[in-house]
Amino acid sequence: MKIVIQRFNGTKTWDQTFEISKEEYSGKTLLGVLLHIKQTKDISLNFTASCRSAICGACAVRVNGHSYLACDTKMEPLLAEYDNPDMIRISPLGNFRVISDLVVDWEPSIENLRKIRPAITAKSEFSEKDGCIQNQAEFDRISKQWDCILCGCCASECSKLEADSSDYMQPFVFTHAYRAAADSRSKDEMLHLKPSLDNGLWMCVHCNECANRCPKGINSHEDIANLRVMAMRKGLKDGSGPGHAEAFLLDMIEGDGRLNEIKLALRSEGVFANMGKMDIAMNLMMAGKMNPLHIFGGEKIEGHDELVKMVNAAKKAEQQGAIK
Ligand code: SF4
Ligand code: SF4
Ligand code: FES
Repeated sequence: MKIVIQRFNGTKTWDQTFEISKEEYSGKTLLGVLLHIKQTKDISLNFTASCRSAICGACAVRVNGHSYLACDTKMEPLLAEYDNPDMIRISPLGNFRVISDLVVDWEPSIENLRKIRPAITAKSEFSEKDGCIQNQAEFDRISKQWDCILCGCCASECSKLEADSSDYMQPFVFTHAYRAAADSRSKDEMLHLKPSLDNGLWMCVHCNECANRCPKGINSHEDIANLRVMAMRKGLKDGSGPGHAEAFLLDMIEGDGRLNEIKLALRSEGVFANMGKMDIAMNLMMAGKMNPLHIFGGEKIEGHDELVKMVNAAKKAEQQGAIK
């Protein structure tokens, strides 16, 4: 088979093709194959790896555009995922600056992690003598997030980062912000919530790619949603994001059960902000994607009563503390 590896020497990017026999890749992991190539075919190939046990997070790369933890990916099942098992293309993680070959720059991500204060500041009721005790349920709420190994697979797939990374942090940074904010021992969730809000919490586009690719089964998308809930409960509703979320709920319960695109835009951003978007609205109407009469509401969707009952039951359960 052919393995094409994207190379970069600091100035120039090129593809290098390696011929690998079945005996050479059989039974190996993707990292095993990369090590084999470096040891027997081209010593100049650069990549990072350390533990070989899916713990250190250093070995993530992309295969055919999708991120994988190389030491945790066996070659045979990997090749079976693709239509052409005779050729794969390995490239560095996306949405990271490439330093050399498959090595990427983690400094901006670490800088973002610093912003959200990942270490907790313990409540004053805890002491050095008695420790910071939490019960099983409190630990369970954040135990999954503790599994994050900072591999970057989620960030590589993130649609928002790909579109514009200037106002957004890597998905795992939000996961660590949620882990710290939701920790029952934490003195002040705002220490973690505020920098999340200031760095794009409401900009996630809900593609769910982060959750799809995480080798540890962590759902950063859900952690982002939970941080948003925390912010709404604290009354932090500045910007169009919270208005957008409330409009969804209003349409579901008080409206006909369908998203009302016209009201949604007005509620989220207000009349003045939308005046400049009349051309977009006209185009949507011409394409039949927006009905101006919809502003007066429409016929209720089938099962609307049940939908309202479900939402009200969830609200009641939340008030009674059954949902956190
Ligand atoms: S769901 Fe949000 S955070 Fe996750 S990959 Fe998509 S845009 Fe990024
Ligand atoms: S959340 Fe998952 S994919 Fe993202 S860095 Fe952590 S372990 Fe890797
Ligand atoms: S080498 Fe440590 S996670 Fe792969």
